[in-house]
Amino acid sequence: MSERKDSSTLQSDILIIGSGAAGLAMALRLPANLRVLVLSKAGLVGGSTPWAQGGIAAALGGTEDIEQHIEDTVKAGAGLPEREVVERVVRAGPEQIEWLKSLEMPFSHDHDDPERLHLTREGGHSQRRVAHAADHTGRSLMETLVSAVRARENVTVLEHHNAVDLITARRLGETRDACLGAYVLDIKNDRVVTVRARHTALATGGAAKAYLFTTNPDGATGDGIAMGWRAGCRVSNMEFIQFHPTCLYEPRAKSFLISEAVRGEGGVLLRPDGTRFMADHHPDAELAPRDIVARAIDAEIKRLGIDCVYLDISFKGREFIETHFPMIHARCLEFGYDMTQEPLPVVPAAHYTCGGVMVDEHGRTDIDNLYAIGETAHTGLHGANRLASNSLLECLVFAQAAAERIATQPASGDREHPAIPAWDESQVTDPDEAVVVTHNWDELRRSMWSYVGIVRTTKRLYRARDRVNLLRREIHDYYAHFRVSNNLIELRNLVEVADLIVRSALTRHESRGLHYSKDFPHTNPRAEHFNTVLIPPPARPYPNVRDRHRGTPLQD
Ligand code: FAD
Ligand code: SIN
Repeated sequence: MSERKDSSTLQSDILIIGSGAAGLAMALRLPANLRVLVLSKAGLVGGSTPWAQGGIAAALGGTEDIEQHIEDTVKAGAGLPEREVVERVVRAGPEQIEWLKSLEMPFSHDHDDPERLHLTREGGHSQRRVAHAADHTGRSLMETLVSAVRARENVTVLEHHNAVDLITARRLGETRDACLGAYVLDIKNDRVVTVRARHTALATGGAAKAYLFTTNPDGATGDGIAMGWRAGCRVSNMEFIQFHPTCLYEPRAKSFLISEAVRGEGGVLLRPDGTRFMADHHPDAELAPRDIVARAIDAEIKRLGIDCVYLDISFKGREFIETHFPMIHARCLEFGYDMTQEPLPVVPAAHYTCGGVMVDEHGRTDIDNLYAIGETAHTGLHGANRLASNSLLECLVFAQAAAERIATQPASGDREHPAIPAWDESQVTDPDEAVVVTHNWDELRRSMWSYVGIVRTTKRLYRARDRVNLLRREIHDYYAHFRVSNNLIELRNLVEVADLIVRSALTRHESRGLHYSKDFPHTNPRAEHFNTVLIPPPARPYPNVRDRHRGTPLQD
C-alpha cells in the first residue's frame, strides 16, 4: 500500500466550499468575528463567475420595473419559478448593485448620462435591465470580491483544495443529522485533510461539464450537488439544464460564449444563406427566452444539415462593437473572426444547471448546519429555465441570506459532536490505469450530449440511463480501490450528477422550459407547480472507514 504525507485537521467557524460569486459574497457578508475558511479546487479566481459576460439583472427602474422583472422571470421559467422566491430575489436586486458599487465594482455607465449605469438587454427581459462591466462582468466582479476578501482578516482562502465528501453526524453513527465539515484533498501536497466547521456552505457552481460541449470551465463537475446528495440532501429539477444558444463554432475556442447581450444590442441570427429565422419560431425573435432560441437553432441545424448558424452585429460598426464587446471581439479575432466585418458562426452548448440541492429562503439544506448557495442550489428562482443574468443576482442574494442566518446562530461547542476519524487510505493503492478515468470521462460526456440534450426522447433517455449506470458502477469500483486524485473526485461527482439529470428527465412526462421531449411535446397545465424532487436513500457510514476497499454500496 502506498502512503501519503500525514493528514491533518483544520478548524473554522464557517467552511465555504467554492470561491465564485456565491462563496466570496457569503464570506464578505459574514460578521468579522467569525473565522471563515474558503476553499477552491482551482485558484481563487476559478469557477464560472469570471467567465460571465452579459451582467447582473437588477430592476433599477423603480416599482414598475420590479414587477416586470418578476413577470419576466416567471414567464422564462415556464410557470415553475416559486413566486415568493422570485419576488424576494428581484426586490433585492437594486440593493445588491449598491453593495457592489460600495465595493467599487467598475460597472459600465451610460454614454449620455455618466451618473447612470448603462443597462443592457438579454433574451426574455421585457426591457433593458442588466447592469454590466462591458462584456467582462464576471472578471470585474471577481476582481472586486477578491480584493474585498483579501482585506478581511477573518477570511482564509485555501486554493487547490478539492472537497471530497461532507462529514455528517449521521455518517458517524448519530441519529440527529448535522454537517460537521468535509474531507478535502490538498492537491499540491497530495494529502487529504479534515476540515471541521460549525457551518458548511456548498458553493461549488454547476454541472454543465456533464456535457461534451459546454460554455463552462473544466471544474463545473457538480461537486456540491453530488456531495450534498451523497450526504442525504434532496436534489430537485435536475432535468432543466440550460443550453446557451450562441457559442463560437470553432473547436480551438472550446465553446467560447458569445453573450446574449450581442442579440440584446441588435444582433440577428442567420442561416448560411443570410436569411433570418427566429421570427418563424417566436414573436420576440432573437430576444425570445433562451430555451426557445437554443431549440430553434438546433432545429435549423438539423433541418438543413448544417454545422452552425450565424450571429451578425457587424452592421453596428466598429466603434460600437469595440465599446460594448471588447473582450468578445478580441477573442474572436484570435481565431480569425472579425465581428465588426462579418457574422460569427455559432452553435448551442450546455451552460447552466437550473436544479440543484434543495434549499429554503436562507440557503439551508435538509441537513443541519449545511447550506447551499449559487448554481449548486435549487432555490426556486429559475423554474424550468433561468432568465438571463439572474444567476449572479441569485448568488449574491442567497449568499447574504445564508450569512445573515448563520450570524444569528449561537456558537455550539465541539463537545456536542463525535470525534471525526482521519481519512483512511490503509486499504487502497495507487491507481493502476489512469486511462480508465479519461475514457469514462469522455464516454459519459458524449452520452449525455447525444441522449440528454436539447431535444429528448424516452428511448434516448433510457439509453443514457443504461450507459450512466454502467459507468457509475465502474467509477465507484475504481474509487473504492484506489487513492483519490483530483480527476477521480470530479469524475465520481460528474457521473453522480449525470445520473440525477437522467432520472429527473425520465420523471417529467411533459415538455416545459428546458426539458423538451418529443414523446411528451405538450406542457401539462397541472404540472405548473410540480418540481422534480429526488429523495436520497439514508446516508450510509462514511466511505473512508477501513472497509472502503470493499466499496460502499451504491446509493440507487
Ligand atoms: P462558480 O463561480 O462556478 O464557482 C465555483 C467555485 O467552487 C470555484 O471556486 C471552484 O474552484 C470551486 N469548487 C468546485 N468544486 C469544488 C470542490 N469539490 N472543492 C473545492 N472547491 C470547489 N450568469 C449571469 O447571471 N450573468 C452572466 O452574464 C453570465 N454569463 C455567463 C457566461 C459563462 C461563459 C458562463 C459559464 C456562465 C455565465 N453565467 C452568467 C452563469 C454564472 O456565471 C454562474 O452561474 C455563476 O457564476 C455561478 O457562481 P457560483 O459562485 O455558484 O459558482
Ligand atoms: C450571456 O452573457 O449571454 C450569459 C448570460 C447568462 O448566462 O446569464
